[in-house]
Amino acid sequence: GNLVGLVGWRGMVGSVLMDRMQAEKDFDLIEPVFFSTSNAGGTAPAMAKNEKQLKDAHDIEALRKCDVILTCQGGDYTSEVFPKLRAAGWKGHWIDAASTLRMNDDAVIVLDPVNLPVIQSALAKGGNNWIGGNCTVSCMLMGVGALYKAGLVEWMSTQTYQAASGGGAQHMRELLTQFGTLNAEVKDLLQDPRSAILEIDRKVIAKQRALGGEEVANFGVPLGGSLIPWIDKDLGNGTSREEWKGMVETNKILGLGEGFETPAIPVDGFCVRVGAMRCHSQALTFKLRKDVPLADVESMIAADNAWVKVVPNTKEATLADLTPVSVTGTMNIPVGRLRKLAMGPEYLGAFTVGDQLLWGAAEPLRRMLRILLE
Ligand code: HSE
Repeated sequence: GNLVGLVGWRGMVGSVLMDRMQAEKDFDLIEPVFFSTSNAGGTAPAMAKNEKQLKDAHDIEALRKCDVILTCQGGDYTSEVFPKLRAAGWKGHWIDAASTLRMNDDAVIVLDPVNLPVIQSALAKGGNNWIGGNCTVSCMLMGVGALYKAGLVEWMSTQTYQAASGGGAQHMRELLTQFGTLNAEVKDLLQDPRSAILEIDRKVIAKQRALGGEEVANFGVPLGGSLIPWIDKDLGNGTSREEWKGMVETNKILGLGEGFETPAIPVDGFCVRVGAMRCHSQALTFKLRKDVPLADVESMIAADNAWVKVVPNTKEATLADLTPVSVTGTMNIPVGRLRKLAMGPEYLGAFTVGDQLLWGAAEPLRRMLRILLE
């Protein structure tokens, strides 16, 4: 059956998902049932065919009727509802954006342009838990997955430049509010072309250091005009949870490491929050298993999937096509700055950008739904 329960469709990731599902006419293929955690009984969106009323997202009996449940409601909802639903004997497909279940043995991290064989093998074995990956990891693999598929990667180091949206909608607002506050602080001086830049700088840093309370409620410290080299929890071993995800999720998506035949590939680096809105960028350093000509690397990457675009390693092309501003709202995954590094011919550098709400969150989920509908 095609009864698909949708939970968390009104939030930021959920809204992007709804837009993509409408654009790709996914609703023509399913019977959607809209659930709500706060407004059960309210009116469902226009795409609803039969169930015109919102159902209660905590109503296990109502959820149990669905063949598929697709949730962007977040980790707390998953932790609360998923175990109850499975305990109630529900055998349907659970598709989830939250990280809660990602590393479970019976869950597959879905990114089908990269790991369709892993998905198909799990499906054949009766798998029914399909979890979207960490946004940084998914965007990275959409860009340079070809090198992993070809078995060329000995290790990879990633330095990220992650957008405010990775924290959530409130984080995006907070960033913009901070930019506004800082601008207001020096507006008069900026308008006077003869004003002293060091006076402007002094006023800005004084204002940044004075920001408190509501103005830094989400990030904890100013992000506007600064950066934050720590994302997600402190694991207590010098690594952030976001950095830990980089290695474990990359390997799990590719079917490497624990539970698979081929050992894990080391992936490590630093995850940094910057003042971008919704595109995560990352500078990648690869140690390749052999010296592959750059032209071959470029053509492998370009041929990997329909969305990756190799950006010529020139200033002009980089400024035009390799920034969060150029990528936001598109499905494009540009990979540029491709060059051999000074450390030797097996060392490859690259830079990639991806919309963390599209390939980083919503798109792999709706594509998994499509795979189930085939
Ligand atoms: N953890 C990511 C971030 C977003 O904070 O940017 C979700 O994958």
